[in-house]
Amino acid sequence: MPAPVIAPSILSADFARLGAEVDAVLAAGADWVHFDVMDNHYVPNLTIGPLVCQALRKHGVKAPIDVHLMVEPVDRIVPDFAEAGATWISFHPEASRHVDRTIQLIRSCGCRPGIVLNPATPLAWLDHVLESVDLVLLMSVNPGFGGQQFIESAIGKLAEARRRIDACGREVRLEIDGGVKLDNIGRIARAGADTFVAGSAIFGSKDYAATVSAMRKEIKGDAHL
Ligand code: DX5
Ligand code: ZN
Repeated sequence: MPAPVIAPSILSADFARLGAEVDAVLAAGADWVHFDVMDNHYVPNLTIGPLVCQALRKHGVKAPIDVHLMVEPVDRIVPDFAEAGATWISFHPEASRHVDRTIQLIRSCGCRPGIVLNPATPLAWLDHVLESVDLVLLMSVNPGFGGQQFIESAIGKLAEARRRIDACGREVRLEIDGGVKLDNIGRIARAGADTFVAGSAIFGSKDYAATVSAMRKEIKGDAHL
């Protein structure tokens, strides 16, 4: 399994001080920046676009930027995010008319493609995309807002997704997004996730470094030794 990645979702950051918030969370030991894009159409909320991604790069952010597109349609905005400095671009398959084309488009723009499955979206979507994506993101809340409760059925779904990824033989990251906290991240890791998005749990804490390192301990499983 690839080394664990902690990806704070900037949705819960202080947007008036976004550059400083991202610097602080990366200095605190986070690996990636999780960048939630919402369009008030695919999801009932509106957030940030390529301009903000580019602004973070101009600010000097070197870490991978993990763009989570909650937009419909998808393809129009993909090249803009690639130009703005996205590293990963993940999308929801229901939001794209031609899923394989979108995956190819993301890769041809120089980014790494990911597929995102909502809590009620079946793993069957993986049947014909595991050969071409680099990341599978399972939502453990309904997309649209930070600070929601973790949906428990994601645990069994993670275990099954892990089995499928291992069986496919390619290196595909398995990411979890929504309601990830210090008290459930250990169980989530044991279920098979290797990439952990956490918004309110990190940005809502006083000491980012303490929270990130406590999460790493829980992921490794030695927090209670
Ligand atoms: C929800 C977003 C998440 C969200 C996670 O639609 O995709 O990334 O910010 O927030 P928390 O960790 O607070 O549930
Ligand atoms: Zn997200």
